[in-house]
Amino acid sequence: MEQKMKKYQRILVTSALPYANGPIHLGHLAGAYLPADVYVRYQRKKKRDVLYICGSDEHGVPITIAAEKQKKSPQEIVDFFHFRNIKAFRAFGMSFDYYGRTSSATHHQTSQDFFRVLSAKGIFRKKTEEQLFDRKANMFLPDRYVRGICPICHQDGAYGDQCEKCGSSLSAADLQEPRSALTGEVPILRKTTHWYLPLGEWQEQLQSWLAEKTDWKTNVAGQVKSWLQAGLTDRAVTRDLSWGVPVPLDEAAGKVLYVWFDAPIGYISATQEWAQEKGDPALWKKYWQDPETRMIHFIGKDNIVFHCIMFPVMLMAHGGYILPDNVPANEFLNLEGEKLSTSRNYAVWLEDYLARFSPDPLRYYLAINAPETKDADFTWKEFQQRSNGELADILGNLVNRTLTFTAKFFANRVPPRAALDELDRRMLAVLAAAPQQVGDLLENFELRKAAAAMMDVAREANKYFNDQEPWQTVKSDRHKCGTTLNICLHALQTLAILIEPILPFSAHKLWKILALPNDLADAGWDEAGQSLLVEGQSLGEAEILFRKIEDEEIQPEIDRLRLSSPNKQSAPIVEEKKIEKIAIDEFGKIELRVAQVVAAEKVEKANKLLKLTIKLGEEERQIVAGIAEHYAPQDLIDKQIVIVANLQPATIRGIESNGMLLAAQDETGSLSILTLDRPLQCGAKVR
Ligand code: MF3
Ligand code: ZN
Repeated sequence: MEQKMKKYQRILVTSALPYANGPIHLGHLAGAYLPADVYVRYQRKKKRDVLYICGSDEHGVPITIAAEKQKKSPQEIVDFFHFRNIKAFRAFGMSFDYYGRTSSATHHQTSQDFFRVLSAKGIFRKKTEEQLFDRKANMFLPDRYVRGICPICHQDGAYGDQCEKCGSSLSAADLQEPRSALTGEVPILRKTTHWYLPLGEWQEQLQSWLAEKTDWKTNVAGQVKSWLQAGLTDRAVTRDLSWGVPVPLDEAAGKVLYVWFDAPIGYISATQEWAQEKGDPALWKKYWQDPETRMIHFIGKDNIVFHCIMFPVMLMAHGGYILPDNVPANEFLNLEGEKLSTSRNYAVWLEDYLARFSPDPLRYYLAINAPETKDADFTWKEFQQRSNGELADILGNLVNRTLTFTAKFFANRVPPRAALDELDRRMLAVLAAAPQQVGDLLENFELRKAAAAMMDVAREANKYFNDQEPWQTVKSDRHKCGTTLNICLHALQTLAILIEPILPFSAHKLWKILALPNDLADAGWDEAGQSLLVEGQSLGEAEILFRKIEDEEIQPEIDRLRLSSPNKQSAPIVEEKKIEKIAIDEFGKIELRVAQVVAAEKVEKANKLLKLTIKLGEEERQIVAGIAEHYAPQDLIDKQIVIVANLQPATIRGIESNGMLLAAQDETGSLSILTLDRPLQCGAKVR
């Protein structure tokens, strides 16, 4: 790695520009943001010239859809979320050098210039094709605006670009019974002209560039390879929409650049704005045009094709730009074992997290549990365990015992180091080797291992403290005791530097306690293993770095997620609501009756539902119950159950349900319907 950096003068790091259509959640952080921030903070400590660029992606269908939903203009949406996300990122410790936005004038200019260059070079193919058009809304429909039946799993409501049920990626023309998501109209086909980037023409050039990328992560290399194997096709880079960067050609009036054309150029325009603010407007060129710049894109896995194929082709076609050296894309973060879903509010939002906890424990957990090579799972329990068991009990404990001891027995001054024994020497060797060891892992984008290695240093220091028994030697051999504490304090100083990329807030607190003359920002990574503390110097006041996170704090978080969990959503019982007391006559309004199941069958395309035919005295009724994952239809025949008989009829998946079966579900998700202890006439009242 040191080798690699000899080739380069500087590093340009980017994190995928998040859409400014909603707040930031943990999935974002784990994929494209925290890993990049840790990497950049580490490089700054290595005293390398590193620039970290991000910003809001403010165009595209995700924005216009959010605007429609909230009955606001796209501009209002992006203004709102741009600033809100900046604030949350900052509170989380993200250390962007510049956070731009793609609605800025610079960005419009830069992306239009980019398009003009490609157009003048004859790079694009212009094609006129038929596309779906909504006559009522008087507009062409982007894929996301067309819904219909998925040709793969036959689920209705699939989007033109993807079926959320089975995950297949689709194109709008594949949908059966397509209709406009805007008006419900059946769209017609109408001719329209667009500019296409002929990716296939660049395949060879791409392949020879990619052939050198032997150090890329296998998940990234694998995806890229399969795209190339499938063969690259033309990609339209213009759209018939009103929100976006206007295509800078007279003949393209009313058209805008495809969001995936303009957004990555946002990295460039943000760098330009950064340079402008620095008062050196040409400075951006060094980062984008000098082959001695090493460019690294941090993204989530859904962005791989754009960063490894489309944007590189754009840069090659334009000419004069460098290409990324690496694209360490991460896999996805799941939540409590289930896929995150923003539309269902099945997510942990950064702002909510920060309202209750401090940033470092989350940074630590997301680092040590990063979805590096495969999807990872965030659970509140494990968050609590790692925070309490590792941050507080290992790192925090080391800090605490070392400082308490020094304050109590050495007047809160760094004791002198006397003769060293074998254990002292071993500990010092660990500290001397740690920066290189943790650094190599960070350099290699191995965040999980780096976080673990950093914690191991604290673990070893705790063991060293135990083995040296300073509580004994303080009575028997004060010099030895002083030496032990001197080395433990040295470990704290080493750790303060090593933890800074992952735990910046705690690192600063620790640095302050150590009362070193220079700033932590100036302390270099390579100095971490050396002893910067001076014998006899005073230390600052100790403070608790990591408080324990209590069960009562995380339980509400778990409960909230369970309520919006995709699996539990159609469970027949709503769990754990705050229950208020009711009067007996209110209870009397609910007519509970015994019913007997006469027939049961699965509901097509709804894997949680059963349709039951039940007898209530002479009357037969049909009800729909969300119990298909817990009971096979044949197991229910002839069972006597309890239903709410006077519930207003409802239509569930097109089937009328006339009553509700009672069932109970416990914390483990086990479900039981309510049955009778002894047979009764059906229709009997339950009281
Ligand atoms: N907004 C996109 C997303 O959230 C990422 C854009 S990355 C950029 O998936 F390179 F285009 F900027
Ligand atoms: Zn499907």
